[in-house]
Amino acid sequence: MALVNSKEMFKKALNEGYAIPAFNVCNMESVQAVAEVANEKNAPVIIAVSEGAGKYAGYDYIRAIVEVASKHCSSDIVLHLDHGKTFEACKAAIDAGFTSVMIDGSSLPYEENIAETKKVVEYAHARNVTVEAELGKIMGTEDLIHSDTESFTDPEEAKDFVTRTGVDSLAISIGTAHGVNKSISTPVIQYGVIENVHNAIPEVPLVAHGSSTVPAKWVDLIKKYGGEIKKSQGISEEDIVKMSKSAICKINMDTDLRLAHTAGVREDLALNPGHFDQRDFNKAGKKYVKEQIAHAFELVVGK
Ligand code: G3H
Ligand code: 13P
Ligand code: ZN
Repeated sequence: MALVNSKEMFKKALNEGYAIPAFNVCNMESVQAVAEVANEKNAPVIIAVSEGAGKYAGYDYIRAIVEVASKHCSSDIVLHLDHGKTFEACKAAIDAGFTSVMIDGSSLPYEENIAETKKVVEYAHARNVTVEAELGKIMGTEDLIHSDTESFTDPEEAKDFVTRTGVDSLAISIGTAHGVNKSISTPVIQYGVIENVHNAIPEVPLVAHGSSTVPAKWVDLIKKYGGEIKKSQGISEEDIVKMSKSAICKINMDTDLRLAHTAGVREDLALNPGHFDQRDFNKAGKKYVKEQIAHAFELVVGK
């Protein structure tokens, strides 16, 4: 099917009360894994590329790989820049042919977040690219993304923000967090915040970041085969199901795919000391990544 922007995908998700999973990728194997599972599920999907992943692989390389993947996939794919920190980062992704971008101005003062977001919206909309912005602070660390503080999204501010920026979707802070260790115990999701923000901006699809469940099976395999993960805590699977049925239209997962891939690679190398062909251990990593993605689809879209 086609590479599309998120407009129609979100409209349907919002009207019918489900969410679209967004999976972070950084290379050919991860793109293939997402597209192959989306094809098996016959379900739309968002392929997310962070600025860090863009630096690693190149936006143009990823765009080309995703374009080929979309030809092998029966469902629509959105190619999305995740956590673009500046107008320039968003412009680079748009110019490379991304169909959706996130401008994450959540660490900026409010008026600056509005100004930067507005600039991205103008550039993106003129090129048929949809824009996600962020309001409120989501905790956690992943490479280039970091926040020590959390502040839940304010509904009135959200209304003012979307009215003044014309943004297509909004990432909100609701108690999820980036990374492998989200909280000292199971994070408490703020369903009241989701509801109040939705009531303030009912037409705007909402986005949950930091939604990995950090499955014990991957963490345990990594540790069993020599890896070190000191503390780990994910979002509960029940919350992923519940969030997907709320006004949240996009659920972001990155950490779970990293864990699955690393578990596969470590296991393969530990069990097969003779392996030195990267196709062997990448195949093993990809197999677990596909298993993880398939499970995430079950939680988020129920199939
Ligand atoms: O939400 C953030 C991304 O998962 C961060 O990815 O470590 O490639 O910057 P990164
Ligand atoms: P996780 O660290 O929970 O996978 O979050 C991913 C994310 O929010 C990507 O933007
Ligand atoms: Zn995120």
